[in-house]
Amino acid sequence: MQIAPSVLAADFARLADEAATIADVADWVHVDVMDLHFVPNLTIGLPVVEALLKHSSLPLDCHLMIEDPERWAPEYAEAGAGNVTIHAEASAAPVRTLRAIRAAGARAGLALNPATAVEPYADLLPELDMLLLMTVEPGFGGQHFLDLVLPKVRRARDLVRGRGGSVWVQVDGGVTDETIGRCAEAGADMFVAGSAVFGAADPAAAVTELRRRADLAAGAARPD
Ligand code: DX5
Ligand code: ZN
Repeated sequence: MQIAPSVLAADFARLADEAATIADVADWVHVDVMDLHFVPNLTIGLPVVEALLKHSSLPLDCHLMIEDPERWAPEYAEAGAGNVTIHAEASAAPVRTLRAIRAAGARAGLALNPATAVEPYADLLPELDMLLLMTVEPGFGGQHFLDLVLPKVRRARDLVRGRGGSVWVQVDGGVTDETIGRCAEAGADMFVAGSAVFGAADPAAAVTELRRRADLAAGAARPD
């Protein structure tokens, strides 16, 4: 079970300080790159990711909500991002791009919007380190979790299990204390949370509570 707080909900003017608040309890820092074309929002790009890399003790999980990921994704990997995720809907050549990300030394992720089926990508699983299933329409934090994605999380987990089980299944969007258990029960093992972490008075405590609930729901919690 891995937790990746999204700094989309943090203070962009204090990114390094915000990331430091969860450094001891989280597994990754999730960075949402948006280009105002693939999604109707604009956030940060490579220069800011490069700057944050110098200050973050956690690896960066870069979620590229951009057109033409063929052009940009390898550069995030070369800069030192631990994981680089591209969107299936935006990629004209996902196999080539995923291979380029891996060749540059990062883990490779493929993201699917809520309305995109996972089955057409089953044969790409050997090219992936992570499958990201969006549980909101991409573009903004603070949206309501879409329960309609949960059957796809189950099918994705089954596909991964059927092929050796080394691909992480990440959920992103509307993940809170209230929804994380359903995601874990459905088979997700990596959880992005923005407002539930950086909107909380104590972000580190929020991460710990999210992890506790995910572990419980997956039946992995140890009795105390
Ligand atoms: C949405 C982003 C998410 C976002 C999640 O397009 O990909 O990572 O930060 O924010 P919350 O957890 O507030 O839904
Ligand atoms: Zn994201």
